[in-house]
Amino acid sequence: MKTISIALDGPAASGKGTLARRLAADLGLRYLDTGSLYRAVGVATLQAGGDPGDPAAATKAAETLDIAKYSPADLRSEAAGNAASKVAAIPSVRAALLDYQRRFAAQAPGAVLDGRDVGTVVLPQADVKIFVKADFEVRLARRVAELRAGGQTIIESRVREDMAARDARDSNRSVAPLVPADDAWILDTSAMNADQAFTAAKAHIASKLNA
Ligand code: DC
Repeated sequence: MKTISIALDGPAASGKGTLARRLAADLGLRYLDTGSLYRAVGVATLQAGGDPGDPAAATKAAETLDIAKYSPADLRSEAAGNAASKVAAIPSVRAALLDYQRRFAAQAPGAVLDGRDVGTVVLPQADVKIFVKADFEVRLARRVAELRAGGQTIIESRVREDMAARDARDSNRSVAPLVPADDAWILDTSAMNADQAFTAAKAHIASKLNA
């Protein structure tokens, strides 16, 4: 049986995670949040007393990563996101995580992967590639609401600064920067709620898979 692979890339708080999870459930596919791998490497580096920007410390954490050790609560904090963005700029960290992502996608019946470079680097042959974007202010409001809903006490100006810094790091790094694949379909969710984004993405996927 042919496996189906769907790549969803986009910046932080663009809505790609919610969308990817929902599409996977609806299509009966497996789901991998590739950002959680980078977050786990960031957290593991910090826990070992290392600096997430240090290639040796971060690469060691990536090569010995046991993803099952980390709960979603460990990984969703702003500290984890910032550490993730730093380890993600290190080529040997990305290389260490590549195989795991590809093997995950290759298992039947296939998978939806969300991240930054799924359509460009991890799965350049994906059946469907969607690049999810949204205006900065919209993404900021979503991230603030998400952190508050998770019970975190936050300072909005700090979240703003962190998000701008992460956007810049993710987009400007030399290895696998955040850019849409040439053959990606762009979904701008700035004026959409989660249901509208899901409906639009589902229609696009159906048109690609039935083409
Ligand atoms: O999607 P997220 O916020 O959980 O991602 C956390 C960080 O991991 C993000 O700043 C960039 C990095 N990342 C990446 O470089 N490549 C991916 N495929 C996924 C995430």
